[in-house]
Amino acid sequence: MKGRFSWWNEWVKRKHAYAQATQKQMDTDRFNSICAGTGLPNIHQKSTFKFKDVADGAARFLGHAPSGEKPYARIYTRLGNPNTEYLEKILFQLECEHIIDNALAKDEKSPTIASLVFASGMAAITTIIMGFVKPGDALIVGNVYGCTDSFMRFLQNRFGIEILFTDATNTDNIKQLIAKHPNVAAVFIETPDNPTLAVCDIEAISKITEAHEAMLIVDNTFCSPYLQQPFRLGADVVIHSLTKYVNGHSASIAGAALGPYEFFSKDVYPVYKDFGPTPSPFDSWLNSLSIQDMGVRIEHQCATAQKLAEFLENHPKVNRVWFPGLKSHPHYEVAKKQMRYGGTIISFDLKGGYDAGVNMMNYFARPDTPMELAVSLGSVISYIEHPASMTHSAVPEEDRCLRGITNSLVRLSVGVEGFSTLSKALDASLKL
Ligand SMILES: Cc1ncc(COP(=O)(O)O)c(C=O)c1O
Repeated sequence: MKGRFSWWNEWVKRKHAYAQATQKQMDTDRFNSICAGTGLPNIHQKSTFKFKDVADGAARFLGHAPSGEKPYARIYTRLGNPNTEYLEKILFQLECEHIIDNALAKDEKSPTIASLVFASGMAAITTIIMGFVKPGDALIVGNVYGCTDSFMRFLQNRFGIEILFTDATNTDNIKQLIAKHPNVAAVFIETPDNPTLAVCDIEAISKITEAHEAMLIVDNTFCSPYLQQPFRLGADVVIHSLTKYVNGHSASIAGAALGPYEFFSKDVYPVYKDFGPTPSPFDSWLNSLSIQDMGVRIEHQCATAQKLAEFLENHPKVNRVWFPGLKSHPHYEVAKKQMRYGGTIISFDLKGGYDAGVNMMNYFARPDTPMELAVSLGSVISYIEHPASMTHSAVPEEDRCLRGITNSLVRLSVGVEGFSTLSKALDASLKL
């Protein structure tokens, strides 16, 4: 619906001028040097900040900040904190450095993109949606993480927002839904999705959403900014659960969202301030520390994952492997276009059915194996899980199987243990 967002026309103009890029990934050395940073602040473990005088306090409440400081970051930690501000800047550079450079080259006077860090990935998702959704709106939602899915159902049941679930890997589904429902305010996708690692074509979807003045929101958690940079492909908002690759050690829960500055400052920030989805200063400091080697970790994890996916594809006890870096993956070409590598997550279907899945999981539950039986991902530790009995057990069996989540499907998040260690362990577990 045209005229839905007051900031839309200016954003689209800047998106075309500064955000979309022919080069889909940032240079790795540049990426790693932004991650390493040079100015990790001490921990500001405090809820409130002293003002110099009344004029300083009054100015800060109006959002005026001295140069180099983020507005509101030194009033009260629910509104912002220097540790969170530091992490926001790093993420901002990783996802958007080309936008900043392009805007500066054109002497753009006002900011184009904003970056906010949250107490969890779910806090980022819910705050962004509450920042724009209103009665009468519809949202198109792809195959998304369970809590995102249940939040969407909550919006539908409690507030009457129309939620149109669809297979977003088929771009035509989105085209048809958006044509039929002029009240679609946003399309929310994850790519690759969980656990079958199906890939959505961000560039193709963004052309459809843009023509209808609907936001394209991409949950980029499964990739991190290292593997995929959705603004370069036409996304309007990018979300991360920092709990995964950014933390990389499963030591904290956090999230982030980046998007049009006008949207964030006028609509998202007031929700952030009032709902209070703020991270603790310590968690932001911890994530600023762990992001320092994120690119290096993921590079190693991806190389191992690619070899493991090939190993599993040739294993006699494995039916089928889903990994975007394999030529056999149904969306291999789209993945190659938009991702740096195939990623670090592999799903595979065992010939022995449900029992083989349970046997394998119980093997990795033992303390003498190099993986953990656990449901997170993106850590230096490899995690293995069985979606049918764990992450997707709430999905009715018929729906699950239709989505390819069979009883014998296993999901593996590859850590840094290396190919020889992990392939030996997988082979041992498959021989049980
Ligand atoms: C794709 C995706 N998005 C969002 C989330 C939620 O993140 P958090 O657990 O940090 O709230 C998850 C969690 O697993 C996820 O996998």
